[in-house]
This record gives sequence, structure tokens and C-alpha cells, in this order.
Amino acid sequence: MTSTENPPQADQTEAKKPFHLRGNYAPVFDEVTAHDLEVVGSLPPELNGHYVRNGANPKSGWSPHWFAGDGMIHGLRLSGGNAEWYRNRWVQTRALNEPDAKMIGDDGTVDRTIGVSNTHIVRHADKLLALVESSFPCELSTELDTIGVHDFGGELDTAMTAHPKICPITGEMHFFGYGFFEPYLTYHRVDASGQLVQSEAIDVPGPTMIHDFSITETQVIFMDLPVVFDLDLAMKGGMPYRWDDDYGARVGVMERGAVNTQPTWFDVDPCYVFHPMNSFDATNDRGEREVVIDTARYPELWKQGSTNFNNDAELYRWTLNLDTGAVAEAGLDDRQIEFPRVAEHLVGLPNRYGYADSSFQEQNAIVKYDLETGEAAEHRFGNDRIPGEAVFVPAEGGVNEDDGWLLTIVYDKTRDSSDFVVLDASDMSADAVATVALPQRVPFGFHGSWLDD
Ligand SMILES: [Fe+2]
Repeated sequence: MTSTENPPQADQTEAKKPFHLRGNYAPVFDEVTAHDLEVVGSLPPELNGHYVRNGANPKSGWSPHWFAGDGMIHGLRLSGGNAEWYRNRWVQTRALNEPDAKMIGDDGTVDRTIGVSNTHIVRHADKLLALVESSFPCELSTELDTIGVHDFGGELDTAMTAHPKICPITGEMHFFGYGFFEPYLTYHRVDASGQLVQSEAIDVPGPTMIHDFSITETQVIFMDLPVVFDLDLAMKGGMPYRWDDDYGARVGVMERGAVNTQPTWFDVDPCYVFHPMNSFDATNDRGEREVVIDTARYPELWKQGSTNFNNDAELYRWTLNLDTGAVAEAGLDDRQIEFPRVAEHLVGLPNRYGYADSSFQEQNAIVKYDLETGEAAEHRFGNDRIPGEAVFVPAEGGVNEDDGWLLTIVYDKTRDSSDFVVLDASDMSADAVATVALPQRVPFGFHGSWLDD
């Protein structure tokens, strides 16, 4: 899908525009470079590297859906307590530069070199990859120049999720691709050096929208949930997925690295999950093997069409018993949240703390969950300041899991501009450690990463 599939709507007043083109969802049109930005407070001098964040920013000014705009990366270079530069760049994709290029040809073939690369940006094996789940990754430099499509030396033959998981123990990158045609779901494993070493077709009943997945130290976890592909919607252009009351909902658990095998599927209550927070292996009181999966879970999604986001995802836990097949489900909190994250060095491992954006109720907040005590702490930004996803960076010499920094971009309504903000994750109620006013508004986006030097 590209932002140019449908013509820009003439003469739209601000109020008539869809939400994803209004207010701070609206795209920006300048690629800006600014050096030596002013810091209020003090940036931790140990933060040496780049913060990069992806989001949809349709170059034409119009896109049929929030998820369909051209990818734009906003990046900051931090070094020794200084904010050395900010820049924003469109990912120079074929979707951006070849408006007539079609991802799905008239003969039904799919060209995965075409895609908007708008969802996430991750680094693995020294490659920085902008990702969108319809297509191949697009490699960038840390200065945000586009290098080009990355298909793992021609080995990748499906799309790649925007949410690969990098195992902190092995350095492997696990991911999947999904699509409209069989096999609807394929699992891939890339070794620490960047070689694609395994691809396995996974059997699922039909084509569903699978945004993210999970790993543990020993397993990979797929979510097959009832937001299904709809050919009629696809023909109309826009988001070709809708809720299906009859599809059911299941979570599949498969041993990492197992060859020619299939997941064990666990039926769960129908729901939708864009993003798990984390997953890990566990053993219960009876010595049985379990997998614990914490998610931002929607009771339903897109029943009234794909522009309808109810923003009612809450933190929720599935506990799957690998020995008995039993499933336990439990809500863990009633705040509305999205963009849950944990420390990258705990992906797939037991985590005590998780962080999420809770900007959907009266208070705009980053919430920190203590999953051991069940407590939560918030950093509230007030009515006029709206944060995005918070990325956790461990503090140098940190002792506790929450010794570290939370990086986010905050939109300030009163100034119609944006700040880069650093919070102390161990003290959520404290004032921001550092605030860097950015030279322009940064539209609400999706996901980002900290790239340590
Ligand atoms: Fe996502």
C-alpha cells in the first residue's frame, strides 16, 4: 500500500480530514537539519549514540489510512551531554519515488521491494533497517540517508514484520512475514552476523493481520487473531482488514530453531493485540513449563471499520501451560495503553518492569509497570503535552532493572511543536532529566530505537 494509491482529496477543511491527517498526526513537509540544540536540564553524558523514530508522513499530504503514509525518520545525535544534531528524512522507498510502482501486479505477483517503511527502525548486525510489515526492510545510515532495500542477500521471500525480536543472549534476530496468499505466515531466523539461516511456513486457517510477535529464551510465539483480510476492502483501496466474529483467536508457541515443525496452538478469548510487552519462559508450582505473554490487548478491533481506533487496549497476561495445554487469562491494569516496551536486554527474558504510553485518557502519561508488585507509576505531562512511545536505555553501571532512561518525543499543543524528553525511569514522578526543543513539530509516529555507539 502506498500513500499515492488514491488522489489527494481536494478542498478538505481541517475538520473534515480524517484524524490521521489532522492536528499532530498531520505530516510535515520539510527535511530539517539542526545542530547544537539547546538542552534544558542535563542530558546524561553516557548517552552517546542516536535516537531514531519512524512514523507515517505522507509526502503528498494524503494517505488512505494512518498506517499507509510514507515513512519518515526523526533522529537525534547525542554525545557527552550534548544534543549534537536533529534531522528528519523520508525513507527513500520505491513507494515514495515511483508513485506508479504497484506492490501487487495485475497478474497477482507481489513486489516486496515496494513499501512505505514507516513503522519501526531497528539495528541488527550493523545494519539499520526501516521496517513496514508489507515489504522488505530498507537500510539507512545513522545520518538517515537511505542505502536501499535489504532482502538478506536475496534469501528473504516474504514480507518482514516491523517487530523483529533480537535475542539478547544469542544475538539472533527472529521475525516473521505474513501476507494475503499462502503460506499466510512464515517464520524466519537470522544469525548474529546477519545471515538468514531459517525460514519455516506456519499453518494458520486464513490470512489475518499479524503486526507483532514474541520470543522467549526457548520459544517463538505467534498471534493468530480475528482481524482478517477482506478482498472487497482491498479492491476499494485502503486497509484491507476487518474484525471477524467467527475466526476465533489463538496463540501459537513453537520451539526456537525447530525445523519442519508447527506451533502448538492455544485458544484464547477473541481480542486484538498490536504489541506484546514481553514474553518469557516460566515454571509453575507443579513444575510444569509455561510461557507468560504480557500484551496491550484490545477486546476487539475494527468492528466499525479500520479508521476506528477505540484506544481501549489494556495490559493483559496470557499464561500458556506447555505441559497441560491450559490457558490462563488476566487483565493486569485498567489504564489505556499502547506502545509497551521493556529493556532490550530483557526481550524474551523475565522482566520486572515494563513501560507504555498512556496518553489516551485525561492525563498524558508514560506509565511504568512493576509486574512483581502489581504497582504502576506514571510520569504525567499534563493536558497540553502528549508523549509517544518511550524507549528504555539502561544506565551505565546500573544495579536495578529500572536504573536507566526513558526517551520519548513529546508534542506540545500550546507551541504546536515537539520536544525530545529524557526521563529517569527509576523516579517517574521526578521532572524530566532533559528536554530538547526540536526545530519543528514531530508528528505522532510509531516506534523507535536507541542506537548506542
Ligand atoms: Fe507496531
